[in-house]
Order: sequence, then structure tokens, then C-alpha cells
Amino acid sequence: MDGKNNAAEAARQREYIKKIADLTEGRGLKYLVVTFGCQMNERDSEKIAGSLAEMGYTPAASEEEADILVYNTCTVRDNADKRLYGRLGVCKQYKSRKKDMLIALCGCMMQEEEVIEKLQKSYPYVDVIFGTHNIFRFPELLYMRLEGGSQIVDIWKETEEIVEDLPALRKYPFKTGVNIMYGCNNFCTYCIVPYVRGRERSRDPKEIIREIERAASDGVSEVMLLGQNVNSYAGVAGEDSGLQDLRTEFGLEPGAGVTFPQLLRMIDRIEGIERVRFMTSHPKDLSDDLIRCFAELKHLCRQIHLPVQAGSDRVLKTMNRHYDSAHYMELIDKLRAACPDIAISTDIIVGFPGETEDDFMSTVELVRKVRYDSAFTFIYSVRKGTPAEKMTDQVPEEVKHQRFDRLLDVIHEIQEEKAAADQDALLPVLVEGFSKTDPDVLTGRTDSNKTVDLTVSQKTMDAYGIDRPGELIGRIIPVKIVKAQTFSLYGEAV
Ligand code: 5AD
Ligand code: SF4
Repeated sequence: MDGKNNAAEAARQREYIKKIADLTEGRGLKYLVVTFGCQMNERDSEKIAGSLAEMGYTPAASEEEADILVYNTCTVRDNADKRLYGRLGVCKQYKSRKKDMLIALCGCMMQEEEVIEKLQKSYPYVDVIFGTHNIFRFPELLYMRLEGGSQIVDIWKETEEIVEDLPALRKYPFKTGVNIMYGCNNFCTYCIVPYVRGRERSRDPKEIIREIERAASDGVSEVMLLGQNVNSYAGVAGEDSGLQDLRTEFGLEPGAGVTFPQLLRMIDRIEGIERVRFMTSHPKDLSDDLIRCFAELKHLCRQIHLPVQAGSDRVLKTMNRHYDSAHYMELIDKLRAACPDIAISTDIIVGFPGETEDDFMSTVELVRKVRYDSAFTFIYSVRKGTPAEKMTDQVPEEVKHQRFDRLLDVIHEIQEEKAAADQDALLPVLVEGFSKTDPDVLTGRTDSNKTVDLTVSQKTMDAYGIDRPGELIGRIIPVKIVKAQTFSLYGEAV
């Protein structure tokens, strides 16, 4: 489904932004948006911050200092839920000291009915509550709270709407996330995302291209295309698409579908964009055309996040993943054939209901075969309302933890072996800022998304014609790796 763009709604919300700016003018109010969870949430938080900035709020240094505190929540595993309630307890104390402080909650957790009931009953001091489908309505809801006085709750079950052209404030000036689609249709049996983020809606390709062009003209050089399953992106080349040249070049008639690889080819040509990444990909519909893009496109980073979840075919089936381990390995082989040095990362769940020792060992075996550059491992967590919640053969906690630790050992062993390969390599690095532990050291990321700490000699600074290393932030520069460790690379700018 391609989502319906609603420009009138964006204009309405801009009116509320103006009204709040008038209400709060001259008061020097501050905001803080705290984000839990994935990069989708990170991007949503940038949008909330963008609205707040246009309302005249400036960033607060701490939660306590904020006049408005927004928690953008996650519910993919239950530890995320617990963290929020803990934070809210502390907020009550802040509010008792600062009466006008506002607390807003949004994100995936708010799409769960029990959560809303609990918040209404036990957390009356929360001011504004909204969900994932109506995030664009934040200015209006905040205005209602400022005018009306009581707790505002607005949760939508579903939406087809996509509201474009609202403000967003980028966390980094040189890189940004760009949503290309929202929602998920896959219903993996363990996962709550389809219930809290709704069905798949793809953005109009023209809007995506425009957003990236604007970002590039603001100095952004790296974009991360975001979607729960970018491989099923299904855009439509509109009548007035402004993609006239691209349409001719790519042979797209008005109304023709635009696939994810086609979208990537369009983005690859945007002036000023040096690096393009995407996440997440579902193995069941990773096409040969997409694999070709890694060989062909100049700016597509040689990196893919391809969640496998499990190595046992029986478990993959009960997870409703629609592929088996042989198919997954075939994809890995094709990716490496198209792009030999591609960095591959994954997500793995251990202790899914019914997982036997043999099933678990199949996961270990797959990990050893693929030799991931990095792997995010999760202990299975029961999510209410998902099919896996009702599966009777839940794995005991201590078995889950023990398997988790064993898997981590295997992953680290492989990472250690692989890290050695980067020793003495010359890698292009996008410099992102200063190291948190040493202000004289810069930090950045390689094409394959590994973090590198780097130093800059006086000679190199002279060659770049700069006085301070910080002037390299936002630039892509060659770095010689002098020390390659499992989780970190150290290098010298050359
Ligand atoms: N328990 C544990 N991990 C989960 N994930 C999603 N749902 C669950 C769950 N119920 C993991 C998957 C997914 C990642 C974002 O979170 O590995 O890819
Ligand atoms: Fe969840 Fe599966 Fe959709 Fe990913 S593809 S968001 S794991 S249901």
C-alpha cells in the first residue's frame, strides 16, 4: 500500500506550532526528548524535537531542567517497558518541584491498551499521551493540554495517512535517517511491531527524493533509509512526480510501482550524498536486483543488516519467517559474490518457545558459517497478543540465559578473528565528533559502519589546511588503522 500524503494536515499542525510559539514566547522554555528503542524511534524523536524547536523551546541539558520532557517509548522486549515506569516515578519528583513542567509519552508502548489503562489510573501527572500513528498531531495535542488543563490521551488504532513536511531537527548535521516506509505486514510470531506500528505504508518516492535532496543541501552526506522491511518498499511514481527525468531514465510510467532497488538507484545519484545505508531487510524478500545494487551503486555502503533470528528450520517455521537456513546461506553467498568485502550483521533470538538444544546448536552452526561482522542477540521475551505468547513450550529462564552466553562467546570469538583483518588497512571514515573518553581524539565510522577512534597529526592538519582536528567533523577522510581490536578500531588520519 502506498500511504496517502496529507498536506492539509501538515498545514494545520503548523498553525498549532505558531500558536504555542505565541503562548510561550519570552519564557525561555527548554525541552528534552528521551528515546528508547530503534532507529525509527530515533527519527520520530527528531521530528518531535523539530516541532518543539519551532515552538521556541531550546534543548535542556538534563531531564530535571526540562520544561517539557518527552519519552518516546519502545515495547519490542519487556525490559524496555519496565524502564519507562521507573523513569516516570522520578518524573513525579521533578514535577512536585516544578509545577509547570510537562511530561509527554509517545511511541510503540502507547499502542498497547493495558499500558494506557495503567497510565490513566496510576500516572495522572503525565500530561500528553499519543501513539505511533498520530505523531504528527503532537503540536495540536500539546496546545490542547496547554489550553485545557487535563491529561490528553490520543491513540489511533491504524492509519493510512502519511503527513509530510513537518519540521525535524537532525541529531547530527552530517547524517540522518529517512523513513521510506512505515509499519510491517510480516507477523513474525514473537513480534509486537505489526500490532503497534500497523500495516506497511510506503512513502511517495518523490517525497523521499526531495527530503534527501534538501538534507544534502543542508550538508548531510550520509543517509540511513528506514523501514521495518525495506525490501517490500512499494512506492508509486505519481502523476506530478517531479521525477520526470528519472521516470524516463528508469522507464517508469505514471502510476508504475517503484521497487526498493529502483529507489536506491535514484538516491545514488543525488548530489552531495556520499553514503547510503538501509535497515532492516527481511531475508524472505531480498531480491537479486537488490544484491546487484551492492556491486553497481557508487554510494551504497558495503554493509547489510540481515536478521536471521534462528538457525533451525523448525524454529524459523514456527517464527513464521518464510525462509530456511539454506535459503539464508544462499543469500549470504550471493551478497559476498556481488561484493566480497560486504560487512554483514544480524539479529538473533535465543530461547524461542520450543527451542531445543539441537535447534540452538543449529543457530551456533549458522553463525559459524556466516561469520558475522556483528550480531545483536536477544533473549526471547513474551509479548502480549502475539501468537508465540500462547505457545506452551516456553524455554526456562536459566536455559535461555545459558544459551545466550554461549552464543555470545561464539560471536565474540569470530569478531576477534575478523578484527585482525583490519590491521594496517586504509579506510575512508566519516568523522562524527570527539571521542567520549578523550577530547583530543576524533571518532567516526567506516563504510562498513565500524567505529574508529582517530588522531590527527599536525602534518595532516597542515595538509588539510585546518587549525584544529574538530574541523574534520562531517568529512569523509582516509584513515590508516594502527590498532584493530574486537569492538574498536584505532587509526591515524592520513
Ligand atoms: N523477544 C526477543 N527479541 C525480539 N525481537 C523482536 N521481538 C522480540 C521478542 N519478543 C528482536 C528481533 C528483531 C529485533 C529488532 O528485536 O531479533 O529483529
Ligand atoms: Fe517484527 Fe518480523 Fe516485522 Fe521485523 S519483520 S518488525 S521481526 S514482525
